[in-house]
Amino acid sequence: MGTIAASREWEAPAMVETVVLNGVRVLRGWLDAPAQARLVDRLRALARVAPFVTQVTPGGRPMSVRMTAAGRLGWVSDRSGYHYAARHPSGAAWPPIPAQVMEIWNEVTGLARAPDCCLVNWYGEGARMGLHQDRDEADFSWPVLSVSLGDEALFRVGGVDAPRPSRSLWLRSGDVALLEGPARLAWHGVDRIRFGSSSLLPGGGRINLTLRVVE
Ligand code: SIN
Ligand code: MN
Repeated sequence: MGTIAASREWEAPAMVETVVLNGVRVLRGWLDAPAQARLVDRLRALARVAPFVTQVTPGGRPMSVRMTAAGRLGWVSDRSGYHYAARHPSGAAWPPIPAQVMEIWNEVTGLARAPDCCLVNWYGEGARMGLHQDRDEADFSWPVLSVSLGDEALFRVGGVDAPRPSRSLWLRSGDVALLEGPARLAWHGVDRIRFGSSSLLPGGGRINLTLRVVE
């Protein structure tokens, strides 16, 4: 069983503004500009080994967000449903989770347990992600941590029992969001991005990382 948020020693640095949205905690600007740029370089290298792919929903509709992953397991969606898989659709093993990403997980969660999966989502112009719950994992007492890079995204958070009513906020590059404790199963999604609002990614777009303990 995982150690839940309440039992870990964690305190955001005084300089980090924290916004709570229906129990989901957003740590504003957790990564500064140089750290964001370093991470983007690393993710570029990662995407050369494990390219972004367009996945389809179980109903056969292509997702607007393109995805890849790092870690022991990656999250995939196809006509057979949503599931974790040990291999990229190309058949290759997923690359390891970058050390910088592991540091963010360690610093923010304070957990000894490492995540199994770092899902990497790429939002181009017009991409969005419908409201959903992250519930393909075995143990919901582990948190889900997300990192935003690049263009701003309108992040919507509903309840645990129902997607509405919901509240929203614009996630900015460098922000970290935590779905943990009672909000671990909160409905959430991205309504839209402000394409070109950040200069981090030449040509615009947004990258989101989600770190999860899967099994
Ligand atoms: C997700 O729920 O997988 C992504 C959330 C985000 O892009 O901020
Ligand atoms: Mn999610």
